[in-house]
Amino acid sequence: MGIERTFSIIKPDATRRNLTGKINAMFEEAGLRIVAQKRAHLTKAQAETFYAVHAERAFFNDLVSFMTSGPVVLQVLEGEDAIAKNREVMGATNPATADEGTVRKLYGESVEANSVHGSDAPETAAEEIAFFFAGAEIVG
Ligand code: CMP
Repeated sequence: MGIERTFSIIKPDATRRNLTGKINAMFEEAGLRIVAQKRAHLTKAQAETFYAVHAERAFFNDLVSFMTSGPVVLQVLEGEDAIAKNREVMGATNPATADEGTVRKLYGESVEANSVHGSDAPETAAEEIAFFFAGAEIVG
């Protein structure tokens, strides 16, 4: 696959429990490099736009409320096969079915408060990175 970049969010349930460092250590131990990172409190408009693909889903309003309920950490992760590798480290969307040792199994509280988001494909990674980061903020 070669060197890729993916977009990651450490979600409000994780920042609330002060887990940023523990989650970042898991990314780094998996060979992912944090090449951009900033803490932010998303606006409703940002969360709605970011998750627009889910706008018709029953959980959309709750998802937007949750993602604006506290600070998040926005990140760009870089490494060999970074998109798939990050998804492995995160585990399944629902912490109840996530593999042992994954971020969501260790720290996720529910399918909504599942501690992390990661891009699912190269096109979405590029879009999501560009939505939150200027090129000059990413230092590989
Ligand atoms: P994420 O990877 O951030 O992408 C969309 C999010 O919607 C997902 O993680 C979940 O946290 C959240 N979500 C809330 N309810 C559901 C649900 N029923 N099915 C899938 N995702 C859900």
